[in-house]
Amino acid sequence: MIKKGIILAGGYGTRMSPLTKAVNKQLLPIYDKPLIYYPISILMLAGIKEILIIVNKGQLYQFKKLLSDGKRFGIKINYLEQNKPRGLPDAFILGEKYIGKEKVALILGDNFFYGQSLTAKLKSCVKLSNGCKVLIHPVSKPELYGVAKIDKKGKILSIREKPKKSLSNLAITGLYFFDNKVVDYSKKLKPSKRNELEIVDLLNIYKNKNKLKSEFLGRGGAWLDTGSIDDFYSASSFVSSLENRQGLKIACLEEIALRKNWIGRREIYKSISFYGKCEYSNYLKRLIK
Ligand code: DAU
Repeated sequence: MIKKGIILAGGYGTRMSPLTKAVNKQLLPIYDKPLIYYPISILMLAGIKEILIIVNKGQLYQFKKLLSDGKRFGIKINYLEQNKPRGLPDAFILGEKYIGKEKVALILGDNFFYGQSLTAKLKSCVKLSNGCKVLIHPVSKPELYGVAKIDKKGKILSIREKPKKSLSNLAITGLYFFDNKVVDYSKKLKPSKRNELEIVDLLNIYKNKNKLKSEFLGRGGAWLDTGSIDDFYSASSFVSSLENRQGLKIACLEEIALRKNWIGRREIYKSISFYGKCEYSNYLKRLIK
């Protein structure tokens, strides 16, 4: 069972400058809450209560001010700083001590997932016994992502990062499940031409050992990109449509924790006083009525 998760929430956020000049991208809003709430919710829905958030150097204070140690959500949040964006596998090098001898999930701080039977899928992914599992989803612009070519049985034949020539329309999403070997494999990686450790190189190590598994997020699932300012607006309008239609919030961390019995009314009251008078607090009040 995977009990630990890492959220990579660093990066320069250059594509969204000037918004990201002073504020980390993951703290910008997707409709009514900061982007970071969404990947945290995914790990929580998977049953993961121990989370390491990796942030840019100098931005720890902002994250701690918002999320603190995670107690409000019934989880434990640790933090680490990354000096500069050295690539996604750097998470496992920086996080070596935190990971210890355990397996680990990695979610990119800017990835947004939503969908039918998502929780069931996540719960099955954390049961990983060995190797690595990735979630794949069709996209119209595969050249923007890590892409997988699979055979009829779902076996991954090849993977490539942002291929110029079409390989398939299946993107590898930013949610990965790894066994403990990931730490050693990451340490062996060499930086690519763009001077980063590449997640596809790491996945290829697993693939060459026949230890890379894939699963479809499914047609009823949404995986939205939040790479650009337009993506932020699309994701915001997606969340606002659903929330206003259903009267239920997406990625309300206190609600997830309450439903899982990780927290009780006392923590909800704490959150309400932390947030102050706002729509989010009103929602929390309704939860414990
Ligand atoms: O979103 C899924 C895609 O994410 C995958 O399909 C690709 O295979 C994978 O490489 C990645 O592509 P991106 O171009 O979106 O990666 P990006 O460099 O934008 O980083 C994604 C997030 O991780 C972003 O929130 C910043 C953070 N990050 C990134 C790097 C390289 C870090 O915190 N540290 C880093 O060193």
